[in-house]
Amino acid sequence: MSASLELSAASKAKIDEWLTKFPPDRKRSAVMPALSIVQEENNGYLTEDLMDAVANYLSIPKIAVYEVATFYSMYELKPVGRHKLGVCTSITCMLRGSDEIVDHLTNKLDVDINEVTKDNKFTIKKVECLGACRHAPVIHIGNRYYENLSIDKVDDILASLE
Ligand code: FES
Repeated sequence: MSASLELSAASKAKIDEWLTKFPPDRKRSAVMPALSIVQEENNGYLTEDLMDAVANYLSIPKIAVYEVATFYSMYELKPVGRHKLGVCTSITCMLRGSDEIVDHLTNKLDVDINEVTKDNKFTIKKVECLGACRHAPVIHIGNRYYENLSIDKVDDILASLE
């Protein structure tokens, strides 16, 4: 573990853009976008070194970064597949078949929840309500939501990602 890991110039430049949106004494406000930026650059997951580097860059305590990274489900603390399938399993989606979708995905892709498929393409996650309950069941992949899902639609989505 290297406590002195430096963020890349590209990450710093993107974080700096966010920092312009906050008063100089409120750098902590940039911790969520900063984590998203470094996570994206690191193939979709965070390491302790990267979180420490974010803390150093924002001049905030490491614990403040760890708290955010461990609280929000969009941050990953171990490697993930190239496509992260976030299946909403909150109540409305559950009542409309999300458990069957999870079972279908884990069987078809031969992978457990939160693990990576052998070809490194997919990780399946159960996530909390995505705020699209009227269109349940819902999956999000990257920045996109897929709604009113059926098993057939899920298969079509998988095929489009391969
Ligand atoms: S319960 Fe799934 S989007 Fe709200």
